[in-house]
Amino acid sequence: MARSRVVAVLSQKGGAGKSTLVMQLAGGLAKVGKKVAVGDLDPQETALRWAESAPAEQPFPARVQSLAAAGDLPAAIRGCGKGCEVLLLDCPPSIESPATLAALQVADVALIPVVPSPTDLWSTRAVEKLVLHVQAGRKGLKARLVPNRVVRTNLAWDVLEVMRDFALPVLGAALSQRNAYAQSAVIGGSVYQLGRAGAEAAREVNMLVAEVLKLTGER
Ligand SMILES: Nc1ncnc2c1ncn2[C@@H]1O[C@H](COP(=O)(O)OP(=O)(O)O)[C@@H](O)[C@H]1O
Ligand SMILES: [Mg+2]
Repeated sequence: MARSRVVAVLSQKGGAGKSTLVMQLAGGLAKVGKKVAVGDLDPQETALRWAESAPAEQPFPARVQSLAAAGDLPAAIRGCGKGCEVLLLDCPPSIESPATLAALQVADVALIPVVPSPTDLWSTRAVEKLVLHVQAGRKGLKARLVPNRVVRTNLAWDVLEVMRDFALPVLGAALSQRNAYAQSAVIGGSVYQLGRAGAEAAREVNMLVAEVLKLTGER
């Protein structure tokens, strides 16, 4: 089997939506038939707990493994991705963390969720600097900002405008502020399992998956 594509999801701030993005992407990629694994690099183990909340009769559609305590991070990440087509890495909320740096060293794609608020914009500048630094040595690394918790207010639109001035491009898909995203954590699944209550969110995740598959070069 070909080497798995690695998608790292990182941000400087907690609450930007890293774990949400990872788990919805895992659900969406599995739905289009991809073999997905999730490596949880955050000591808070949100992704792991999320998957463990799933009922036995409907397990989370991807293998989720905590790598937070791993000694040899590159080896642990490689092991976690074995046998899967896409490996999603949920990073801790720190760009100084060795785990975030290790993820960027192996990633094909880096996704940076950004809540359209001024404070998130400021912290995104620091993430961008780090990613551009890594890209200088790893030309193959693609990176995108992903608007998350988007609401239809003037402030949010202004911030989205400012995001277009970043050196890193903005992904052509975004997640709105929706209960379905939080709700799916409660059931240990993704928005696809929420039926009609998750229909709008599922449409957004479909678009997210399509954009990510374009970046990883998968069909
Ligand atoms: N698009 C969204 N709509 C509604 N709630 C969201 C959305 N994205 C994230 N959240 C909520 O925000 C909180 C933080 O999200 P999380 O994914 O855990 O962030 P991070 O992993 O970056 O710390 C969680 O309670 C999550 O349910
Ligand atoms: Mg998290």
